[in-house]
Amino acid sequence: MAQIPQLRLSDGQQIPQIGFGTWALKGEVATQAVTRALEVGYRHLDMATLYDNEVEIGRALAASAIPRDELFLTGKVFHDDMAPDAARRALETTLADLGVDHLDLYLIHSPSVKRHGDAYIWCWEALQRFQAEGLVTSIGVSNFTDDHIAALRGATPVVNQIELHPTFSQPRLRAQMRARKIAVVSYSPLGQADDLTNQVVQEIAEASGRTPAQVVLRWHVQHGLVAIPRSSHPQRIAENLDIFDFELSREQLGLIDSMDESERS
Ligand SMILES: NC(=O)c1ccc[n+]([C@@H]2O[C@H](COP(=O)([O-])OP(=O)(O)OC[C@H]3O[C@@H](n4cnc5c(N)ncnc54)[C@H](OP(=O)(O)O)[C@@H]3O)[C@@H](O)[C@H]2O)c1
Repeated sequence: MAQIPQLRLSDGQQIPQIGFGTWALKGEVATQAVTRALEVGYRHLDMATLYDNEVEIGRALAASAIPRDELFLTGKVFHDDMAPDAARRALETTLADLGVDHLDLYLIHSPSVKRHGDAYIWCWEALQRFQAEGLVTSIGVSNFTDDHIAALRGATPVVNQIELHPTFSQPRLRAQMRARKIAVVSYSPLGQADDLTNQVVQEIAEASGRTPAQVVLRWHVQHGLVAIPRSSHPQRIAENLDIFDFELSREQLGLIDSMDESERS
């Protein structure tokens, strides 16, 4: 089984550069997909209260013989749970549903400023308390702009999980996160499969004898990003992790970089 490269977060913890996304995997499909992911070597699972499948993922974890300290489990507190008491109840439910006593990374799912004003700032302070209590090892954010991060009273999240894929590669936000030493986790790393039919990706896939998904995930890894692809398909779950025995050239990376449409007016 291939070794998955790890990225060192600013608090010293290591995060596997490929994780398994679990959004939209429901019921038995979630249990089966996570079981398959663990069998083929994923050790990092991306989860959230919002995805409503932590009980089913917990079943897959319980059935696997993988020691807890070999897993990297990420959870997210949903916008409606950002008040400190609600956040604590949400985290306790997640831990109970997954059958674990701590998470490796806990994120604020979204600042949700329009609906909740500056609740995300108080929620961040709750996350800091959970960390001090050992319920979560590292804490971070998701869907935050640089301004939202600046509002966290000088505290630095170790991760910002944002939408990021070749046609939406967010170079400006990535540069801002780099300047703050915040690791970027790419969600929807395949562009929800839309980027896989792009001609640039298809041509590079053909030239390198790999699949379009493998080329896109390799692009994330070579850019120092963490990617969390999701699939419910056993063969694709394995394919998406099988990317550590080839490299894209500098020219191929540049061609994929030029697919970005995130900053076009
Ligand atoms: N923080 C946030 O707000 C946020 C938002 C969105 C997502 N996320 C996280 O990011 C994860 C991934 O993002 P995502 O689920 O939106 O999309 P994604 O991983 O970019 O794409 C998933 C889609 O690609 C297909 N696919 C996967 N591997 C493939 C392959 N090798 N070849 C062809 N098609 C393939 C899947 O279909 P099959 O199942 O049929 O293979 C599915 O339709 C989520 O599951 C979730 O954990 C976080």
